[in-house]
Amino acid sequence: MNYLEVAEKTAREAGVILLENLGKVKEIEFKAKNSLVTEVDKLSEEIIISNIKSSFPSHGIFAEESGRDSSESEHVWLIDPIDGTTNYAHAYPFFSISIALETNGEVEVGLVYDPVKDEMFTAEKGKGAFLNGESITVSKSHAIEHSHVCTGFMHEVEWMVEANIKHFGNFIRRARAVRRDGSAALDLCYVACGRFDGFWELGLNPWDTAAAVLILKEAGGQVSTFTGDKYSIYEKEILASNSIVHEQMIEILAIED
Ligand code: IPD
Ligand code: CA
Ligand code: CA
Repeated sequence: MNYLEVAEKTAREAGVILLENLGKVKEIEFKAKNSLVTEVDKLSEEIIISNIKSSFPSHGIFAEESGRDSSESEHVWLIDPIDGTTNYAHAYPFFSISIALETNGEVEVGLVYDPVKDEMFTAEKGKGAFLNGESITVSKSHAIEHSHVCTGFMHEVEWMVEANIKHFGNFIRRARAVRRDGSAALDLCYVACGRFDGFWELGLNPWDTAAAVLILKEAGGQVSTFTGDKYSIYEKEILASNSIVHEQMIEILAIED
């Protein structure tokens, strides 16, 4: 099996566990205020890591719950075993599994799986983006006033809330509608397949964005910082769009009040 096939197989396996336990979460721990982790996050991560390790024993792992291992391989798998844990813990059916392979610092494979809708978003660098095997592209929306955009509030940390409430208000006033769905990986894939025209968030981590950013780029989307500078998955702010409304979104994010 190639890299993507292994990622798909393990995402489906972990997806079954997520569905079986949906609405039955017993233990919620707090990594920080409003930063939840459940026993299902840990189980999902164990399944994904053990599958990847059995196929590619020398590869490195950088996973949300267990951190970075000591491998010095040029290949590192970035894993978010449940993106949208708060939704998951409340049985709100919008969450995903995100798996990406970074090789020498470049993400070359990305997969985001929504087990509830059985939607598998995938991309390999230079080969396009797919939803359940069908090619996807970003929307053609030209104007922010006709755009459907999305954001997230990273665990409700105080400074983040203040900063993003300002942007939220500015987009509500200008876009057609603003959503806050609670799984950044899936939100970005929704931009990739045209369900959203744009997305922005502060404070995300590499395991949230690595896979979905590749999928978005391969679908013809654009990604940058809020000011239009080059984005890296190790960057703390992300602006993603269908590329056509990107400049308009940068202008809105620059509004001071
Ligand atoms: C969170 C989700 C959420 C975003 C947070 C992330 P988690 O990931 O992506 O949409 O707003 O910033 O941390 O903690 O559920 O894996
Ligand atoms: Ca996450
Ligand atoms: Ca997570």
